[in-house]
Amino acid sequence: MWCSNLITSIFAAAAAAVEGYGIKTHINYEVVTGIFKQDDPATNASSFNFTAENFGLIERKYPSDWSLFRRPTSWQRLNRYIETLNLKAKHNERYTLLFLGRHGEGYHNTAETYYGTPAWNCYWAEQDGNGTVTWADAHLTPKGIAQAQHANKFWSTLLAPQTYYTSPLHRCLDTARLTFAGLPLPSTSPFVPTVKESFREGISAHTCDRRSTRSSLRAAFPAYRFERGFAERDPVWTALHAEPAAVQDVRSRAVLDDVFGSDRSTYISVTAHSGEIASLLRVLGHGVFGLATGAALPVLVKASTRTVVGGGGSATRTGSWPVQKTCGVPPGVRDSSCNDCSCCA
Ligand SMILES: *[C@@H]1O[C@H](CO)[C@@H](O)[C@H](O)[C@H]1NC(C)=O
Ligand SMILES: *[C@@H]1O[C@H](CO)[C@@H](O)[C@H](O)[C@H]1NC(C)=O
Ligand SMILES: *[C@@H]1O[C@H](CO)[C@@H](O)[C@H](O)[C@H]1NC(C)=O
Repeated sequence: MWCSNLITSIFAAAAAAVEGYGIKTHINYEVVTGIFKQDDPATNASSFNFTAENFGLIERKYPSDWSLFRRPTSWQRLNRYIETLNLKAKHNERYTLLFLGRHGEGYHNTAETYYGTPAWNCYWAEQDGNGTVTWADAHLTPKGIAQAQHANKFWSTLLAPQTYYTSPLHRCLDTARLTFAGLPLPSTSPFVPTVKESFREGISAHTCDRRSTRSSLRAAFPAYRFERGFAERDPVWTALHAEPAAVQDVRSRAVLDDVFGSDRSTYISVTAHSGEIASLLRVLGHGVFGLATGAALPVLVKASTRTVVGGGGSATRTGSWPVQKTCGVPPGVRDSSCNDCSCCA
């Protein structure tokens, strides 16, 4: 149901350029399990309601628990536990809690349901809209707005993120605003998200994967920060071409390395997409967990940095983007046998 499940290489080329030859750092990511239900393969993602389940936080004891006259909440005890992990960590290790949030429902999501996936993939998704509804860089539907506002109510009971990142697609900038704006956040970590190109959805020929210009995003979200080098026009979306998943994973790793290399926060929020969150989870070594629109997934990550001396770098893949097949007119079938657009009229 997400905008695109096809897909990557300008990102890879950039990563390769940064790596160069010689001494480089490598960050190894591991998921700390036993904290959240979502990293247990027995948890059913399709029926999981993250607000009803307290974000999946497992009720358990931690070695760092303390007793007070006032009982601390589970989140306060987790906070203390993560603090103690970081105090005991080796100099090259750190523990960070990532909140990976999926945007609320967008007009591209409802259009895919309306037309059925084959007609959507093979024809409609390549258009900017249908005359009534626009889904190029789709905005949130009223339901999508309500999902983000629901998350806002719920978030006030949790640990607040210290830093915020978002995909450059409009639905994510807006979801982040609706989710975090107005929360009583500490003055040391206000809600000023950084827009990062590489947290975007896997790129397909769909126009919902093509972002708006920097100036129009800046006008709509004046308080947001744009990462250095953020281009005025979308530099990567290419009409009728799709980023392969392996290339998407290369850029997901590069953007995680960028965040972990420059941001010492323990609590980090990323607002992105189902396909991109799936890619980040692969890089982190977390099991598959499909998120509903407007849902968020916490992951406690142990990151270990080491210096490697050696040649070439591993991110030399520059993978070419295959041409995505489409149909000149929408195919009439609704069944999934036509996902490769082999049923053009
Ligand atoms: C997971 O939940 C969905 C939706 O409620 C249900 O259809 C499916 O059977 C469940 N799967 C398992 C393995 O329980
Ligand atoms: C999830 O649970 C909350 C109660 O915490 C409820 O308000 C909401 O409607 C539920 N969402 C879904 C999709 O069932
Ligand atoms: C455009 O798509 C929407 C669903 O996303 C649908 O409700 C509307 O009727 C469509 N408009 C036309 C002219 O077909």
